[in-house]
Amino acid sequence: MTIAPIEALPDTPAGTTSRVRLNYTDTTREIDVPAGTTVLEAAEAAGARLVSQCRIGTCGTCVGRVSTGALAMPEGRVYPLRAEELSEGMRLLCQAHALGETEVDLDYPAAMLDEHPVVTTTVKVTGLTWLAETVVELAVRLPKSIPFSFRSGQYVRFRIPGTDEWRSYSMASGERHKRRLAFTIRVLPTGAMSDYLRTAAAVGDELDLEGPMGSFGLEEQPGPVLMIAGGTGLAPMLSMLESLQTARTRNSVRLVFGCARQGDLFHLDELDARRSFMPNLDVRVVLDEQTDRPGVLVGNPVSVLTAEDVADPDTSAYLCGPPAMLDAARERLQQLGLPRERIHAEHFLPS
Ligand code: FES
Repeated sequence: MTIAPIEALPDTPAGTTSRVRLNYTDTTREIDVPAGTTVLEAAEAAGARLVSQCRIGTCGTCVGRVSTGALAMPEGRVYPLRAEELSEGMRLLCQAHALGETEVDLDYPAAMLDEHPVVTTTVKVTGLTWLAETVVELAVRLPKSIPFSFRSGQYVRFRIPGTDEWRSYSMASGERHKRRLAFTIRVLPTGAMSDYLRTAAAVGDELDLEGPMGSFGLEEQPGPVLMIAGGTGLAPMLSMLESLQTARTRNSVRLVFGCARQGDLFHLDELDARRSFMPNLDVRVVLDEQTDRPGVLVGNPVSVLTAEDVADPDTSAYLCGPPAMLDAARERLQQLGLPRERIHAEHFLPS
């Protein structure tokens, strides 16, 4: 395998094209990428759809992994990829240029993009519920005229009212609910969306929404499912749990959910209810600080992982939370023997 370092793009003669094979999880497409054109642009020109959002190399959603050949991205810029991911061949396809024949692995099915096209619409706020000191549940309703659907694990963007700023949040509601969506949102001491939610948001407000986006979601793998969520990283897990419950999966499902402080903990009753409906669901809740809450462990979602959590070689792990937690969880899971390709992660997107 040859992985190009992040370096200045070579002066490729005009008229040169590179053949790039896109390996979706359900099919393969081959495209020609002309010199000076990004893989994303060339794919779209060829009618091959790719997950993307910002198109300027900041959101990290258009990632693909080079398995053979090489893709280069312009140097001297900061990308939302860790050094380890870059060295593993991860590239942002909205920035990547092909250096000869190349093969790129994508961790989502092409069918997902056809089944769940991105829409832009205005939704109505139907609920605002504080679940914890720092967490609010936002419920919205889409207009009947908008044909919206999504895969559990995906997210949408909201425009913050009165601004041109957008923020991305994963659906916490299940994919069966196409017009009524729910989101669990961390409310920070400062920040445009946090300020809106804390001081101005009200039922009946209208919000611009764009989505669904992202490729995070359940793989069609037969084995046990291990979910690791930090804080509001629980949202996509709740959505995926509903899908697993609907599909009546017989595989064991373990959710490890951690928060920093007691005041951040939320949805413990909800998780208890899920357990009563899903006998194969095991939930482990952890808190950074000492607590007398029954059943809550002290630690973090990574420190409580054990070899038993990944004892079945068919286990697939799904991670969502702050970047540091994702890095630590990836490292720990691989130490415990879980192959990298069995680990799927959703980053919190930067504001
Ligand atoms: Fe956002 Fe490529 S689409 S980084």
